[in-house]
Amino acid sequence: MNLSRIRDALLPRPRRDYPLYENEELQMLRQATAFNAQLMDMLREHVRPGVTTNELDELAATYTRDHGHIPACLGYKGFPKSICTSINDVVCHGIPDDTVLREGDIINVDITSIVEGWYGDQSETFLVGEVSDEAKALTQVTFDALYAGIRAARPYCTIYDIAKAITRHAEARGYSVVRNYQGHGIGRAFHQKPGVLHYPHESTRRSVIVPGCCFTIEPMINIGRPDTYTEPDGWTVRTKDHTLSAQFEHQIFMTSDGPEILTLTQNGPQEGHCF
Ligand code: MF3
Ligand code: CO
Ligand code: CO
Repeated sequence: MNLSRIRDALLPRPRRDYPLYENEELQMLRQATAFNAQLMDMLREHVRPGVTTNELDELAATYTRDHGHIPACLGYKGFPKSICTSINDVVCHGIPDDTVLREGDIINVDITSIVEGWYGDQSETFLVGEVSDEAKALTQVTFDALYAGIRAARPYCTIYDIAKAITRHAEARGYSVVRNYQGHGIGRAFHQKPGVLHYPHESTRRSVIVPGCCFTIEPMINIGRPDTYTEPDGWTVRTKDHTLSAQFEHQIFMTSDGPEILTLTQNGPQEGHCF
């Protein structure tokens, strides 16, 4: 008996610790995520040099309320705005303010809506006008890393399998995967189990994704080191070495045939064609 077989015999069997959705509940998830994707398509037109992140926030909040829905981030654990806007070396959770987008910036816009009690969550990194080759390459690799994770997501796979695919894609190209933040189960709560680590960790080897699971994959990829710090505002997360960071997020429903991407947009990047 080799070591890994001893470990297999001692550790608990794979365990599911999250809710499964089907039928009417799945329809509610599809409705919430379709609205959230529609919101992203609306915002996309406004992400250009000269716009402030406050203006993007205001547009998102107004559009969401006009459709009878709720911006999930507003007031979530005290977050002060309706969306997250993370520019350049900001990894995630950037707070909209009067910062003006400038040609050459990259900005992640992360939006989450509550539609009749159900959550839709996704993000995209946008290029503001013409950007440097290195910013463009980072954004492309991050987008492709998300899709590597989605392709690795199969019925009865583990979180570990997804993380391995993401990390392999990023690290083979010389980039690093942020470890301090992760994807998550989602449904009638914003953040629930399973925790979706984007780097391979022993603890996720037995975290199995079974049909009926709804979760996000949202890798944050850096040009430099993976380390981050949080600003005194309690939210804004930056790379410690101030290198650029990008992120894409989709909400996924696992069917018995494979992953269904719930948050696909009409006009956004599609697999293989980021820009
Ligand atoms: N939308 C983020 C996620 O993907 C969470 C943002 S929480 C906030 O999980 F409070 F910062 F808005
Ligand atoms: Co999320
Ligand atoms: Co999000």
